[in-house]
Amino acid sequence: MSTAMCRTASWLPRVPDSPESYRINDAPDQVRREQDRLRMLSRVADGRTRRALVEVGIAPGWHCCDVGSGAGVVAAWMAEQVGPTGRVVSLDVDTRFQPPSSGVVEVRNVDIATEPIGESEFDLVHARAVLQHLAQREAVLDAMVTATKPGGWIVVSDVDWIQYDAQPVPEPFATLSRTLRDLSSRQHGYDGMWGRMLINAFASRGLNEVNGRGEVWTMHGGTDSAEWYVAALERALDVLPADVFPSGFDPRAAIAQAREPSFAILSPISVTAWGRKPDR
Ligand SMILES: C[S@@+](CC[C@H](N)C(=O)[O-])C[C@H]1O[C@@H](n2cnc3c(N)ncnc32)[C@H](O)[C@@H]1O
Repeated sequence: MSTAMCRTASWLPRVPDSPESYRINDAPDQVRREQDRLRMLSRVADGRTRRALVEVGIAPGWHCCDVGSGAGVVAAWMAEQVGPTGRVVSLDVDTRFQPPSSGVVEVRNVDIATEPIGESEFDLVHARAVLQHLAQREAVLDAMVTATKPGGWIVVSDVDWIQYDAQPVPEPFATLSRTLRDLSSRQHGYDGMWGRMLINAFASRGLNEVNGRGEVWTMHGGTDSAEWYVAALERALDVLPADVFPSGFDPRAAIAQAREPSFAILSPISVTAWGRKPDR
């Protein structure tokens, strides 16, 4: 397994004292499940993403970069917008889930935690559901700004759990959700409060025309609206020892609960922020 693949699932909790076992391996079932999950995320989030990218003015001829591009769905949509005179770079540490380079889309295997993204070369640099998972998020945001042309746009979407945690989430799902998020924060530097930091993170970097919005939706059991998250929790269970949970807790019952048609909770806030790099 390459180093790149080993980093794939850094947003999932890691088995204590076993850094190997949280990774997505090459087993066809694991790869298929992650591909399915990324497509669910795309169906849930693409409308909001496209709206923001249209608002910043994505247009034919633009050079764009999608950072942590997953299944490559946003990169493919960007390619339609920029047309044959444009360029789209689709970056991920694990490119198994997206089609290979084709047309104006160049797929690059890059670890954004340690490698540069580019130097003043893109009209638009975008990342969705990536930065909050990385302990190096501030440095990665710096690298996104560096990669943007003067006058170009940076767009970032990440969630914030403040209002999810304030609602009455039913048990046992509440315990499952809280336990795995806490574990991920302790082990990987996952930041469930990053969404609320985005506007300040953009403004403090001297970006212009900083703006953004937060959106929530109802997560209905057994539908994409909840499964993009529930499927990730389920995959974590495959590798976690039972003792991360309170004694007698049944995490599989919590997964089943979140797949009941009657299950309905509000999502975390999906915050999308954008800002423009000053002209020289
Ligand atoms: C939750 S997925 C989001 C995928 C996509 N942006 C979307 O919204 O559909 C997070 C993505 O970030 C990628 N990723 C995580 N750490 C990374 C790193 N250090 N360098 C590059 N990509 C990374 C993962 O491989 C994964 O594809």
